[in-house]
Amino acid sequence: MDLSYDPAPIKGKTILITGGASGFGAGFSARWAAAGANVILGDINPAGEEVAAQIRQDTQNENVHFIQLDVTSWTSQVNFFRESLRLSPHGGIDTVVANAGINNSEESRAFENPHVDYLNDPSPPAPTFKTLDVNLTGVMYTVHLALFFLPKNPGSKPCQQESAASESGRDRHILLMGSVASLHPLITQAPYTVSKHGVLGLFRSLRVTAPVSAGVRVNIICPYYTDSPFMQTPVRVLLAGVPLGRSEDVIDAASYLVADTACIGRSLATGPKLKLDSSTGELEALHDGNDKERAVWECYLHDSDPADIFTQRMLTVVHAAVKARGWAGWVSGMAGALTWPVRQWWTSR
Ligand SMILES: NC(=O)c1ccc[n+]([C@@H]2O[C@H](COP(=O)([O-])OP(=O)(O)OC[C@H]3O[C@@H](n4cnc5c(N)ncnc54)[C@H](O)[C@@H]3O)[C@@H](O)[C@H]2O)c1
Repeated sequence: MDLSYDPAPIKGKTILITGGASGFGAGFSARWAAAGANVILGDINPAGEEVAAQIRQDTQNENVHFIQLDVTSWTSQVNFFRESLRLSPHGGIDTVVANAGINNSEESRAFENPHVDYLNDPSPPAPTFKTLDVNLTGVMYTVHLALFFLPKNPGSKPCQQESAASESGRDRHILLMGSVASLHPLITQAPYTVSKHGVLGLFRSLRVTAPVSAGVRVNIICPYYTDSPFMQTPVRVLLAGVPLGRSEDVIDAASYLVADTACIGRSLATGPKLKLDSSTGELEALHDGNDKERAVWECYLHDSDPADIFTQRMLTVVHAAVKARGWAGWVSGMAGALTWPVRQWWTSR
């Protein structure tokens, strides 16, 4: 798909990125700082300070800052948002990228192979779920705070499908970092799969409600295994011979969603370049340099269609029933609702 975008609207936006010290987060920061954004990287790793300093030096953009952040700590997240607001030249936040994530494979192994003697151990320890803490609770904290701060962005308007990218100044945007594990189970990696399915669930809920309730647009990227520090040697060994995605494609996809304010509720899967055979519908891997190849695919595009049809039919039936019952139905329904506590009390005696 065509991911060409005009980077001009990125200029001047204040963008918060969790997990900004490494991999995709550091790549987003460098790309958007070069386009003139005010970038605030949050990360548990203090090396983010050097990453921010390097980006400032490379881009000559002074509005790049690092704030130490542990996404699993509510206090730390509140501090991250408040401090970012103080650092934002226009006093608001345009985009929040909930990117920080881990996959603790030791935890995954232990989860599926319980080694504690739960029958006889006098006080068996609970399993740890650091992956869920970071990828799910951490993301929920970030998104909850984003839903508070984004609508307060001075000069921002509720998101609109019709808005031209070039018109945008202030924005209200949440970008979630899903994974191929949002779309497909990663065998032996249950906690990671659960966490990324959860992030997808969050996207599918919020992409419907957040634009209406807060004027906030919500998008998600779901990368396949991609060359970044996230991919440690054991995983690389396991995937030997399998083509990896490129970080550049993930950064392109994210930049497209950040730059174009008309992107609302979009989900993009990224991976190694594949060619679609239009006659068979089959995907073929890797033929470098062919412009029919794509690394980015739209997913969950028609996700809400069945829900829309269901809701529409249900409402039609309900409205028909309400009409048929008329005022008498309303009066008896209201009487039933108001007397309900008394009836409950009576039956529980
Ligand atoms: N690289 C891949 O193959 C791949 C594929 C799909 C999805 N993802 C997702 O993309 C996101 C970024 O991954 P990446 O490839 O850039 O990996 P990465 O390891 O390079 O970056 C992750 C960053 O998150 C930070 N982090 C970890 N725990 C944190 C915490 N408690 N608080 C704050 N920061 C914390 C790390 O310090 C690190 O800087 C993750 O959510 C990951 O699940 C990665």
